[in-house]
Amino acid sequence: MNLYKYVSEAINKKLGFEAKLDVPKNRDFGDFSTNAAMVGAKNAGKNPRELANEYLPLLKELDFVADVSVAGPGFINIKVKDDFILNNTIAPKQMVAEKPLKIDLDYAGYNIGKALHIGHLRTTIVGDTFNRITKFVGHTTKSYNHIGDWGRPMGLVIAWILEHGMPESADELNTFYPLSSARAKEDEAWMERARQITSELQAGNPEYRKIYDDFMKISLKQMDDVLVRLNVMPFDMTMGERGVAEYVSDTQKILEEKHLLEKDDGALIVNVKQESDNAPMPPLMFRTSSDTQTYAAADLSAIYYRTKTDNPDVIGYFTDSRQSLHFNQVFRVAKMADITHANLFHTGFGALTGNDGKPFKTRDGGVANLTDILDMVESAVRERVVASDKTLDDGTIKAIALAAVKFNDLIHDVKSDYIFDPSAITSFEGKTGPYILYTAVRLNSVLKRANSDIAKQDRYVLTTEERNLLIEIMDFERTVLSAYENRATDMIANYAYDLCQLINNFYHNCPILRDDVPADIKAGRLYIAKLAFDTLSTAIDLMGLKIPREM
Ligand code: ARG
Repeated sequence: MNLYKYVSEAINKKLGFEAKLDVPKNRDFGDFSTNAAMVGAKNAGKNPRELANEYLPLLKELDFVADVSVAGPGFINIKVKDDFILNNTIAPKQMVAEKPLKIDLDYAGYNIGKALHIGHLRTTIVGDTFNRITKFVGHTTKSYNHIGDWGRPMGLVIAWILEHGMPESADELNTFYPLSSARAKEDEAWMERARQITSELQAGNPEYRKIYDDFMKISLKQMDDVLVRLNVMPFDMTMGERGVAEYVSDTQKILEEKHLLEKDDGALIVNVKQESDNAPMPPLMFRTSSDTQTYAAADLSAIYYRTKTDNPDVIGYFTDSRQSLHFNQVFRVAKMADITHANLFHTGFGALTGNDGKPFKTRDGGVANLTDILDMVESAVRERVVASDKTLDDGTIKAIALAAVKFNDLIHDVKSDYIFDPSAITSFEGKTGPYILYTAVRLNSVLKRANSDIAKQDRYVLTTEERNLLIEIMDFERTVLSAYENRATDMIANYAYDLCQLINNFYHNCPILRDDVPADIKAGRLYIAKLAFDTLSTAIDLMGLKIPREM
């Protein structure tokens, strides 16, 4: 059960009005505290402390209440009965939404012909976890990998290939765009050529199309490898800038009908400035003067396409925060032109920095490539394992490294920058992925060693560690809901960490399989351990981590 919800509703019903329920950090005086007497006193013009004392006998009648007391100016502390806790704690299960929504989620959005870099980590990890959370609370999602496969970079890469031949590998291909765009910066004719090729490619030039299709295969393979390595759910749709190209003219027609398009030096723009804007708000660029499709046109056409096909209630985007202006412009135009009735949101991320607070770079100072970063974290895990005299197989090392990267990404508020330090994130202690996995592995091994049927024990007196752990388990549902509502994936990571702390307190203070533990206590503890494991593994699933067999 969602204990918080149950307690809160029961109190409101008993008193006949809405009060606020808090969960104190220190549970010594109660599991919950309510401001009911403050609210009641305001309505009745009474003294809150006196009123609180009048409420106590009423609240004591509630089925879950073990004890109530008044604190401070009139807060009421509530302690929940042990047997109520034990009888009502269940393992988390798929929830049913009151009002199920259709939600399109747009994340990853890798670029064809370019290396995947550190900036693609958060969009992939947070997007995937938010998708899992959204499904878990009972909504229907459709995930879109809106790949960058139709813009000027395509022309730059094709121009390079025309001169230097097809690349042999993804690594070689990934050097082409930087080389070609560096040349374009110095050489206006080269830039013009890339523009020309891009526009002809978009118009269907067969020679360019052939080259494009060939290097596309290399890029898609690289992209799939990374998605598998990051253990994210397969995308429902990989449909990016090229995929929506055929809807650009429909979208343009809508903009024309609404008289939103303006000509500007051969380009087509939409003015999105509103009177209330304090910050500069440049117009949205719909078509360039060299007649190529823009990033914004692709996003508007994607909204048009998704509305036509999925008819979603919500469309959400996950990118770094430097794209906030872009999405702001796109959302404004989508609403001005009435292209969709969906609620549109953009979650913008902070950056990953090195220990010096500057954007994370490789040792040689380059932009860190995603695969290299994952390799780097894997070797950090390997070093630790060797140093602690353990032997773990390669699959386990990889699972630990993945947990290190993903958990560290999820634990931080999405908006803020964070330091990416391969050594710190692979520690087996502290707020790290390996700590979470280690806790799960150890608990699981107790359950396996017990080798007995695990069932609820009716007559069982809880220790403090046990009751705190069970109360936290009962808070899972509320946490997931709130993570969904606030789009705050860090709430799941923080919950997992708090849960692990409580599990480890329980593990150290409440022996389970030791010979001197009486059979009924052993059975009760195994039951609690099982609930804890099921809850932790659900949280681990939502974060897209894998629990290894041993650690
Ligand atoms: N390809 C873009 C980039 O790497 C991200 C795409 C995000 N999604 C979108 N619908 N614009 O910057």
